[in-house]
Amino acid sequence: MAEDHVNAIKELGDQLQTASNSLQVQEIRNTWLGRKGLITGRLKGVAGLPVDQRRDAGQRWNGVRIEAESMIDEALARLQYQEETRQLEQERLDMSIPGVSPGLGMLHPLTRVRRLVEDVFLRMGFTLRYGPEVESEWYNFEALNIPMNHPARDMQDSFFVDIPGMVLRTHTSPVQIRGMKAAAGRLPVKIIAHGRVYRRDDDPTHTPMFHQMEALVVDRGISLADLKGTLLAMTQDLLGEDVETRFRPSYFPFTEPSMEVDVTCAVCGGSGCRVCKGTGWVEILGSGMVHPVVLRNGGYDPDHVSGFAFGLGIERLAMRIFELDDLRLLYQNDLEYLSRFGRYTGRPIL
Ligand code: DAH
Repeated sequence: MAEDHVNAIKELGDQLQTASNSLQVQEIRNTWLGRKGLITGRLKGVAGLPVDQRRDAGQRWNGVRIEAESMIDEALARLQYQEETRQLEQERLDMSIPGVSPGLGMLHPLTRVRRLVEDVFLRMGFTLRYGPEVESEWYNFEALNIPMNHPARDMQDSFFVDIPGMVLRTHTSPVQIRGMKAAAGRLPVKIIAHGRVYRRDDDPTHTPMFHQMEALVVDRGISLADLKGTLLAMTQDLLGEDVETRFRPSYFPFTEPSMEVDVTCAVCGGSGCRVCKGTGWVEILGSGMVHPVVLRNGGYDPDHVSGFAFGLGIERLAMRIFELDDLRLLYQNDLEYLSRFGRYTGRPIL
C-alpha cells in the first residue's frame, strides 16, 4: 500500500517524460486527475477503507494528488513554451523577401494622345478653348451651315436631350463659332478645342462617345496651302516622317472646299485589314476652308478674311499610334489591357 503511491508518482513521471506536446499532457492529466482518473479513484476509495487506515491513506493520496498536479503543470508549461517558441519562429518577419510594389500608374492612352496633339499646336501658337457638351442646335448645326434637313441631324446620328433645341454635341466644330465670337473680330484666331462628342454609333471603330480635337485659324490671306502645311507638320510630328498621308476631296457643310485626311493603317501597314476596311488607309480628320456663312456667323467678314479648320478624331489617331484594332477596349478600364500602352516611346509623352 505504501509502495503504491510511490509507483503512481513514478509512472506519472514516466508518462510526462514521453509526452511530446501539450495536448498529450492534457490527456495525461485526465487519466490521473479527471473525474474517473486513477488518483481521483484512490481518493474516493479512502472512504471504503477500515477506519484506522483512512486518515493515513487519505493524507498520502492527497499528497500524491498535489504532487501530480504540480508535475503536470510543470510539464504543460514546458511544452507550451516550446510550442509557442516554434510558432513564433515560423511567423518571424523575413526582411529579405522582396516587397510588393504598388506600381506608378500612368495616363490613359487617349489622354496621352490628346496631350501629344495639344503640344504640337501649342508650340505653333494656338490657344486652347473648351465648349459645352450639351450644346444648342444652333451652335452644333445651324451656325455651321448644317441645314434643318441635313442627315447629320438625323436621330440616327445625334443624341437629343429633353431640353428643346439642345443636343449632345456631335462634334467639336461648334467651338469654332464660340471661339470666333470670343475673339470679337480680332485677328488672328488660332484655336484648338478638345472634348467629348456623341453619336449613335457602336462598332469596333466607332463608340457612342468619342473625342475630337478641333482647330481653327482665321486671318487675312489664309489659303489651302496653310491648311496642308499645318496638317503635314502635325502628322509628321505625331506619326513620324515616313508615314504616308492622303488628302481626299470631301464635303462638309461648314467648309468649302473640304477634304479628308487619311494615314496609312498601322495594323496592316497598308495592305488592307478589318480596321481599315480593306483600304489600307485610316481616316483621322476632316478639314477644309471655312465656309463664308460660318465666318459670318462667327462675326467675321468673308470678304476680308479667310480661314481653315479641321476636326481630328483622337481615338482614330490613338489607333494609329498604338496600333489598336478595337476602339471599344479603350473604354473598358481593363488595366491589364491599358498597361500595354505604357511603352510607347515614339515621342516624349507629356
Ligand atoms: N466636324 C466634322 C466631323 O465631326 C469634322 C470636321 C470636318 C471638322 C471639317 C472641321 C472641318 O473643322 O473643317 O466629322
